[in-house]
This record gives sequence, C-alpha cells and structure tokens, in this order.
Amino acid sequence: MRLFIALDIDEAIRERIARCLEGVRNFAPDARWITPESMHVTLKFIGEQPETMLDPIQQSLAAVSAVATEINFRGYGFFPTPKSARVFWIGMDAGPRLAALAAAIDEATASLGIPKEDRAFSPHITLARGAGRSGSPHRNKGDRQNRIFQHLQEKLAALPTPEFGTMSPREFFLYQSQLSPKGSKYTKLAKFPLQ
Ligand code: 2AM
Repeated sequence: MRLFIALDIDEAIRERIARCLEGVRNFAPDARWITPESMHVTLKFIGEQPETMLDPIQQSLAAVSAVATEINFRGYGFFPTPKSARVFWIGMDAGPRLAALAAAIDEATASLGIPKEDRAFSPHITLARGAGRSGSPHRNKGDRQNRIFQHLQEKLAALPTPEFGTMSPREFFLYQSQLSPKGSKYTKLAKFPLQ
C-alpha cells in the first residue's frame, strides 16, 4: 500500500482554491492538474508498505501528541525552482506548530523503521504537476529547465498575491494513494486528533 499522512482542507478554502485553479489552468494546459477533492497538505510521505504495517503505523500515529495550529493559505510557488518547475503549488503561513507536528509524525514512523525525512518540511498544496510522478519539493535528477508553466508564471506575476483563507485543523489523516493513468486516488484510512 502506498501511504502518506496529511491534513484535509476546509471546504471554504478548497472552493476558493478550486475557483483560482479554474481561472488559471488554461495557462498551463499540458500540466496534470489535480481535482479539487484530492487537495491536501502532506505531512509525511511513507511510500509503499506491506498491509501488515497498517496496524503498527496507526498505533504509532495515535501516540503522536501535537497541538492544533492556525494555517493561512496564501501565495503560490513552483518546485524545485520556478525555472525548472515540476510542481505548481499553493503556499501557507503557519507557525512552528505545523513543522512540530510533521516532525512528531516523522519521529513516530521512524520508530517503525520508516526512513526519516532528511530535508526541511515545505508545507504546500500541489495543484499541478508538469513531469514525473513525485510531488517532492526537492531537486530530482531529471529536473531541467522546462516551459510547461511559463505562461502561467507570467500571468500570475501580474496578479496580486492570492489569499485563500485560514483554518485550524483538528485532526490529521493516514491516506492511501492509488496510482492510475487517470491520476492518483487518495482514500482516508484513519483519523488522529490534535490537541
Ligand atoms: P505533493 O503534495 O507535493 O504532490 C501522495 O502522493 C502525497 O505524497 C502527495 O501529496 C505528494 O506530495 C507526496 N509525495 C509523493 N511522493 C513523494 C516523495 N517522493 N517525497 C515526498 N513527498 C511525496
């Protein structure tokens, strides 16, 4: 099972981002755009695991003790860099509590032998992918200058910073990702409360 841990997005914010997405998607028609229902903020990517790991993962996540935090969704960017853009994303302002939550989850899953993140946490909502499958913020071998997002970048640069609203998530989720030629399908498997 391909697993990851993420926050869901409040409906009002999802709708605002979906409206923005509809307004700009034609500026990068060759990108693979996500469906608004599948938007989330990844806290930890686990990857392929045998089904027997589900119970231990859930137990380790149930023991995570983290405090709820406010997140203000605003702005956008491109991974790994605007010039070699592979991913178009929406950004957020969040205090240190969000990074602390991601770190606590990383620690909890590391206790089961799941590799820890070796790079800084970059919270984002992916809206479109240009090439390759991974949404990883970090440079991959195949990243190179590409023009798939160039027109979109020019259009966005002429607009004010987009604002999508604020939410205070009360829980995080273990998700399963099923890959298919039509795009990934994300299913919530379990929910874990924040204090
Ligand atoms: P993304 O949000 O940047 O697209 C399910 O695939 C989720 O896990 C996606 O949200 C994706 O990030 C993230 N993900 C997929 N592959 C990853 C990787 N190799 N490293 C980090 N995150 C990854």
